[in-house]
Amino acid sequence: MRAVTIDDFGATPTVTEVAQPTPGPGEILVRVRAASLNGFDGAVVYGFLKDMLEHKFPITLGKDFAGTVEAVGEGVERAAGEKVFGVVMKPVVSDGSFGEYVVVGEGYGIAAIPEGVDFAQAGALGLAGTAAAGVIDAIAPAEGETVLVAGATGGVGAYAIQLAAAAGATVIATAKPGEETDFVLGLGAAHAVDWTGDLAAQVRAIAPEGVTSAVHLAGDPAQVAELVAAGGRLASTLGFGPEHAEGLDLTVTSVMANPDAATLERLATAVAAGTVRVPIAGTYALDAVAEAFGAFGAGTLGKIAVTVG
Ligand SMILES: NC(=O)c1ccc[n+]([C@@H]2O[C@H](COP(=O)([O-])OP(=O)(O)OC[C@H]3O[C@@H](n4cnc5c(N)ncnc54)[C@H](OP(=O)(O)O)[C@@H]3O)[C@@H](O)[C@H]2O)c1
Repeated sequence: MRAVTIDDFGATPTVTEVAQPTPGPGEILVRVRAASLNGFDGAVVYGFLKDMLEHKFPITLGKDFAGTVEAVGEGVERAAGEKVFGVVMKPVVSDGSFGEYVVVGEGYGIAAIPEGVDFAQAGALGLAGTAAAGVIDAIAPAEGETVLVAGATGGVGAYAIQLAAAAGATVIATAKPGEETDFVLGLGAAHAVDWTGDLAAQVRAIAPEGVTSAVHLAGDPAQVAELVAAGGRLASTLGFGPEHAEGLDLTVTSVMANPDAATLERLATAVAAGTVRVPIAGTYALDAVAEAFGAFGAGTLGKIAVTVG
């Protein structure tokens, strides 16, 4: 089968021919129809995670997937042809989703695609969507509270804006003037603040006492923390946790995306209902995935989708 692989850290992702995997007990072989890029994929390419996770070359890249069940291993009840999506969650970085087929475990990182959600949407939902759900669950915004989303223009941020706004919060989103500002306001942010300017002054002009809570997806976490009112909440996907917030009167949560079936289903149901939009900025075929990495690295608004076969 064709897959996007690297044979060393720093190599350009290339389409190569690799063996089609077979599902073992408790596993599902998915025929991949769509996927999307995440920061994780770039981090794998550049070896940023090599001290944290075991890697086995050649590595097929890719975390997010959407497709159909092709075959199942012993003990798995899913029917062939069922539409599924999720996130590849394996202890070793090796067999990812940027290929014609991927094997995933049945118990974690997979859910059914509901009616009304297409492969492209489902393929761009998994990791960024569950990371956003994780940070928004952690800060639990209530109606009328103010939420600062720092890093609002990326995939996680685009979902976080929508989830916070759906909870009734007034969202202040980081975005440069122009297209980025239009993007975040279009997703439900009430205000855009330019992080390349005086971020603190802009946020204080909207929330003089500080925001009730903040999600940190980019930028200096200490600067974001300073903009949260005393007693407020902050959640970060970048490893900023309670141990970094000593002396601050804040509840701080370091979030790892948790793509369990319930969270994936919650997101997909929201997409089907039209309450969450999947913000796909560009779509690339598997053969053009090197260009997709270039576009992701150059900065895109929302998600870069990959279509397969
Ligand atoms: N812990 C987890 O489980 C988990 C899961 C998913 C993601 N993550 C991490 O969470 C972060 C966000 O993910 P993502 O997929 O949304 O990444 P992304 O698509 O790269 O989005 C980051 C966004 O933040 C913008 N930005 C850069 N510097 C900024 C600053 N100082 N202030 C405000 N915005 C700034 C970027 O703009 P430009 O493009 O113009 O630079 C980009 O639009 C990444 O670091 C990712 O690795 C962690």
